[in-house]
Amino acid sequence: MAIDNIDRTSMSSMVNGFPQMVGAVNPSTDAIESAKDTTKGVCVLGMGGSAIAGEICKGLYSERAPIPITCVRDYALPKYVDSDWSVIAVSYSGNTEETLSAFAEAIKRGIIPFVISSGGKLMDLADPKRFSRLPDSFQPRAALPLILSVELPLIETLIGQNRTNLIQIGKKLADRKKEWTDNGSSPNQIARRLSGKIPLFIGSGHLQAAAYRAKCQINENAKIASFHSILPEANHNEIESVGWFASKDILPVFLRSEHESPRIRKRIEATSEIYFDEGVDSIHLNHANASKLEEILLHIYHLDLVSMEIALKQGVDAVAVERIARLKRILSQA
Ligand code: PA5
Repeated sequence: MAIDNIDRTSMSSMVNGFPQMVGAVNPSTDAIESAKDTTKGVCVLGMGGSAIAGEICKGLYSERAPIPITCVRDYALPKYVDSDWSVIAVSYSGNTEETLSAFAEAIKRGIIPFVISSGGKLMDLADPKRFSRLPDSFQPRAALPLILSVELPLIETLIGQNRTNLIQIGKKLADRKKEWTDNGSSPNQIARRLSGKIPLFIGSGHLQAAAYRAKCQINENAKIASFHSILPEANHNEIESVGWFASKDILPVFLRSEHESPRIRKRIEATSEIYFDEGVDSIHLNHANASKLEEILLHIYHLDLVSMEIALKQGVDAVAVERIARLKRILSQA
């Protein structure tokens, strides 16, 4: 689908263009051919906005993949990733030092990593046969659907699964947006409910990445504090802190799924009830009649739009990430 009409200087235009970016690019043919080799595991490298697609793929295939999919958001490559593994290095700018460090370690171990970037050092260092180039000038976090369009088919090939039709999913996202206004869950309505609160996005199973993405988008676009947690794990620790939520205006947002198991459903309902009895209301978000991947992307698209509504209310520039840029500058001089 065409992405030329998306204004790459405007976060609002980029976020609204999310559906048309889904499936808009492909991995290079050479990369797909190389991905048909046998492999012991898939290790995805990437930070921030460039890491989310890997987390989505991991969450989507963790139960079905015959080999492990692991995501590294750090400098070091785990010891178990040897020359029989496949490594995918993702950095939108191509210049993120943690990703470059783990990439260099992969090369030392005799691995030829797949590379996904729009340019930078990573592009220069990549083996041309394993390199897929992203369209440039997007903000890294807004490029998520483009990154996923390359990364998902690559991972599906590596783990021997059929390729998902992403174009169809993109169309579904665009259609669903129209329904949100009528059913009371428009991004503006959700943003109003979150006004003055600290959102805590809670996800389980395949929706873990969506909960994490929502937290990051609120941080980066709206510049307010936001957190995420994972069920069932949060039931063994975080639940004890709920008495504190009310005094600090923390508002739990449960990302619900029609695919959640009966035990997880029971758990979420019981958790919500305990929170309510402690004086803490919560929001439950659901997207009906959707596959697991559609659900993940619907939650992400919807909450990306919510982050933009909050940015608007806060009067902040959603594009600017001055502190991230400053920190990168300081570190590059060290
Ligand atoms: O959204 C952002 O701008 C950040 O989260 C970046 O994605 C992060 O700093 C990593 O940079 P890059 O995506 O260029 O590797």
